[in-house]
Amino acid sequence: MQFRTRAIHIGQEADPQTGAVVPPLHLASTFVQPGAGQWGQYDYSRSGNPTRKAFETTLSSLEGGAGALAFATGMAAMHCVVASLRSGDHVVAGRDIYGGAYRLLHKVADRAGITVTLADTTDLGKLEEAFTPNTRMLWLESPGNPLMSITDIAACAEIAHRRGALVGVDSTFATPVLTRPLELGADVVMHSATKYIGGHSDAMGGALVVRDKKLLDELYFLQNATGAIMGPLESFLCSRGLKTLELRVREQCRTAQRLAEWLASHSRVARVLYPGLPGHRGHAIARRQMDGAFGAMMSFEIRGDFAAAKRLVESTRLFQLAVSLGAVESLIEQPASMSHASYDAADRARHGIADGLIRLSVGLEAPEDLQADLEQALASLCIA
Ligand SMILES: Cc1ncc(COP(=O)(O)O)c(C=O)c1O
Repeated sequence: MQFRTRAIHIGQEADPQTGAVVPPLHLASTFVQPGAGQWGQYDYSRSGNPTRKAFETTLSSLEGGAGALAFATGMAAMHCVVASLRSGDHVVAGRDIYGGAYRLLHKVADRAGITVTLADTTDLGKLEEAFTPNTRMLWLESPGNPLMSITDIAACAEIAHRRGALVGVDSTFATPVLTRPLELGADVVMHSATKYIGGHSDAMGGALVVRDKKLLDELYFLQNATGAIMGPLESFLCSRGLKTLELRVREQCRTAQRLAEWLASHSRVARVLYPGLPGHRGHAIARRQMDGAFGAMMSFEIRGDFAAAKRLVESTRLFQLAVSLGAVESLIEQPASMSHASYDAADRARHGIADGLIRLSVGLEAPEDLQADLEQALASLCIA
């Protein structure tokens, strides 16, 4: 079955009791047992819930895993992977990773005696130098945030496996529509389901999809032991989101490509960071690694300072000023004052996050309306 068909049918069978074509929302926290000391398929909703199971089954099919686990948030999903490490273990992580992942590795994992080295995962030589005999995990994101860096997942997985480390990929930006890291050699894929999977800015969730049953069982043990599961309502909404994931993502990518090309030729724009532009560093890898499109996230730098960028993000009307991404509504933000404000200015400059950098999450509105919105915002700038 094709991706789109699996998204609608795998794990989403009609309810055998009523014939309802949409599997019901099971809110029960506990389940009647066949006898004392005898366990049915479900016993307690932290350990397993039919609505959560349905979502996990569909997502696992879309990523090509041995199984999936659904969590309360993306960070809870990543935390479960980190909890599988032990004191003395070392992690290599990409430089261009989500700020919350950086915080989890540097300010939470360190309390358990885990050490972290950030490496440029787009430079395989540098990446290899970051490994130590204690490296147990490589953590990647592609495209990266907010510079849209492209990492060659298969090449990085080969290095990590040669060094005996697991490979985890936060694939929130790419979604399984565009990239399936398990097929490229990764061991675990993580999603913030809050983003494209939910797709409508109305549910928080996270997920892991795991290649190997032994690791899946270990992560399931940790999920059940620590308890940050996805609730039934969110599971229901995320299953619904998966059914339209491919249509949404492909359409959002089409609009993003059009806007990126238009912005790249705009006189008030200094540069556009979008993997679908032939001049983007990593474009050739993205062509190979991403399935026919380049995502709906992009950043661009205006010819102007911090204040001008701030004015621009405050003057769009359709692009709403908010963090998060991946939903039907288009969003705009200024990394220097919002998602990356916790970096000091020198660190931001070192990471290539200029004061004039603006990040877009392109939604499902008509492309001409989005272009007109950006045009009026750019025109309203009075750049010295
Ligand atoms: C790439 C990426 N990974 C992980 C997360 C964290 O997900 P959540 O907010 O669902 O915990 C985010 C949230 O913005 C993200 O953008």
